[in-house]
Amino acid sequence: MPSKLIVNGDQGRYRINRNIYGHFAEHLGRCIYEGLWVGEGSPIPNTRGIRNDVVAALKKLKIPVLRWPGGCFADTYHWKDGIGPRDQRPSIVNIHWGGVTENNHFGTHEFFDLCEQLGCEPYVCGNVGSGTVQEMSEWLQYITFGGRSPMSDLRAANGRAEPWKIRYWGVGNENWGCGGSMRAEYYADVYRQYQTYLRGEGLEKIACGPNSSDYHWTEVLMREAAWGMSQLALHYYCGTGSESKSATLFGDNDWLCLMRQAWKMEELVTRHSSIMDRYDPARRVGLAVDEWGAWHEVEKGTNPSFLYQQNTLRDAMVAALTLNIFNNHASRVTMGNIAQTVNVLQSMCLTEGEKMVLTPSYHVFAMYTPHQDATLLPTWLECDDLESRGEKFPALSVSASRNAAGKVHLSLCNMSPGQAVELDCDLHGIKASSVSGKILSAPVINAHNTFDKPNAVKPKGFNDARLSGRRLRVSLPAHSVVVLALA
Ligand code: AHR
Repeated sequence: MPSKLIVNGDQGRYRINRNIYGHFAEHLGRCIYEGLWVGEGSPIPNTRGIRNDVVAALKKLKIPVLRWPGGCFADTYHWKDGIGPRDQRPSIVNIHWGGVTENNHFGTHEFFDLCEQLGCEPYVCGNVGSGTVQEMSEWLQYITFGGRSPMSDLRAANGRAEPWKIRYWGVGNENWGCGGSMRAEYYADVYRQYQTYLRGEGLEKIACGPNSSDYHWTEVLMREAAWGMSQLALHYYCGTGSESKSATLFGDNDWLCLMRQAWKMEELVTRHSSIMDRYDPARRVGLAVDEWGAWHEVEKGTNPSFLYQQNTLRDAMVAALTLNIFNNHASRVTMGNIAQTVNVLQSMCLTEGEKMVLTPSYHVFAMYTPHQDATLLPTWLECDDLESRGEKFPALSVSASRNAAGKVHLSLCNMSPGQAVELDCDLHGIKASSVSGKILSAPVINAHNTFDKPNAVKPKGFNDARLSGRRLRVSLPAHSVVVLALA
């Protein structure tokens, strides 16, 4: 029996916020240093110290927003260490990530330069855990104040007379853990205090939200502080496979285990949203999933604190499923920031010296760009289940949208490691006369790209979708991600 899909082309109501396709770069391992910043004197081609190959690759993803400087690092970061002449900046110890020395060569000016080069919006996460209200409000003034003040004078003295623009500001990171081990009740009060001194036209203040299924945290934050926030952040990492923790050596059971864990995002978003609905029925406060992704064992021979992992077709599937979930919750999910952009966890790019390779997850983000800012089209799907550890979950995932030019895009994942699926689609209210598509798959489920074989996993043209009136029949190979365009 074919699986069945209805796409309701006449019912689009919510915009898929392009920030769902956001990214996150922390001072952790080789993400910032080597991955993004090589310094002006580097033989690796760069623009004012920022590597050109990575910027060119990321620009193709139309990165809408980049979160920085952490992560756990954010609540140890004192921004004044990262301004002024680089050779005079103090060094600090990166206590969370290997106790390595951080020379602060990448700071506020370099971050805003990176965002300008990428054409994305900056999202700064301020220090609550070991900082002060004054330090945070001065950082915001340093960045945005256009008149004369000690902070804007300091900025001008450091070579930037014009203020920058910033819309997204995080008040601490994981303050329930590495950001100060606070209770929800305590952080809610601290949040209220900090946000009072963060001023700026159009500034969206983002409160630290729950760790995974900590529903109590959401309840308390929404009850006590929803009025003072624009978004509430959720963090969820879907871990790794069951028996094998390896990023690349795994079998079907490990694959299924990770798919089950990735599907948990659906439950988390649904349940946190329903708590938010009680305090904010108009859905003014967005849910920003500002850290998510797969977290595996590090590559052999690398520093365990640097979280450097390979990235396979399995991770691409996690990305595709998660982005479908976010799209389908467009009425509440306003941002997503996969962790992390380069060389850390579920990265878009891996680098080794002057070499760079694109990961399978990168290709999913590239294939999904048409959903950015498009109108979500509701779908109804009937398909077989997969099973892992006695838990069932759907084998397929889908999301659909219509862009400003009227083109409809469908993103489809077949999460079965070995079973192809025939999908029968009813395109309700959609007038299409042609279908084209791309597929990301590979002969084996642990396929990945290396510096020697950088194109083992990359998108190809897809011809197994047949359109006839409002019916569309798609043959989805096992372990594949397909994006179709209907015009
Ligand atoms: O992304 C790695 C770490 O995971 C972040 O620093 C922290 O916020 C989370 O626990």
